Amino acid sequence: MNDLKLASFKDLIKNRRSVRSFTKESVDVHLIEEVMEAVKFSPTPTNRQCFKFIGVSDPLMIEEIRQEVLLSTEKIASNLDEERSKSFREYAQWFSFFNKAPIVLFAFFRFFSSRLPTSEKKGASIEGVAELQAFGGAIHGLLLGLEAVGLSACWMSGPLVAEEKILSKLKIERPWRLGAVIPVGYTDSKPAVPKKPEFSAIFQWSE
Ligand SMILES: Cc1cc2nc3c(=O)[nH]c(=O)nc-3n(C[C@H](O)[C@H](O)[C@H](O)COP(=O)(O)O)c2cc1C
Repeated sequence: MNDLKLASFKDLIKNRRSVRSFTKESVDVHLIEEVMEAVKFSPTPTNRQCFKFIGVSDPLMIEEIRQEVLLSTEKIASNLDEERSKSFREYAQWFSFFNKAPIVLFAFFRFFSSRLPTSEKKGASIEGVAELQAFGGAIHGLLLGLEAVGLSACWMSGPLVAEEKILSKLKIERPWRLGAVIPVGYTDSKPAVPKKPEFSAIFQWSE
């Protein structure tokens, strides 16, 4: 067993935190590109490319997108009764802080047509799920890569309330879908580790 490799792996995976505020320090775009070059090696179903990213560093563009998220959030909130609207607004405060980072990565996924025979499609859990699994795997790889180069980030799905507007601003067309928004930058202080499950809750040997 390579102890050094195992220690680095554990260090990366355990120390990565969702970071929601960033210093003003700019990020060398080459660092992002280095990490992306590795993310390219993530597994995908039948090796078909089902994810891609766009990096945005223009603060004006980031702010325009943030405004779209705020508008969409407000639209949802205004259609709810008072109590549910209040609780949704509280939750939605976590949808729009990505403008605090110097770089925002937009992550897209797409589905491919199924190779299952039609009779087998209904209810089959492979349907449409495989590409999303690969997308999630790639995002985690990305977060670990960013951690490895000293950068912090947050995997955000809240901004997806404005998916259509964001796709249009970034000139991305179907079949691509927006899957995540990831602010990236440097943090002064890492957040505390939130409560994580007991080992036995996530892993057991079959008896
Ligand atoms: C699919 C997904 C979507 C998430 N969306 C958001 C989000 O919109 N806003 C946010 O502040 N955090 C978001 N998070 C981060 C989680 O809140 C965070 O991972 C969780 O609280 C555990 O904290 P940790 O990442 O520091 O271990 C998201 C995480 C995942 C995996």
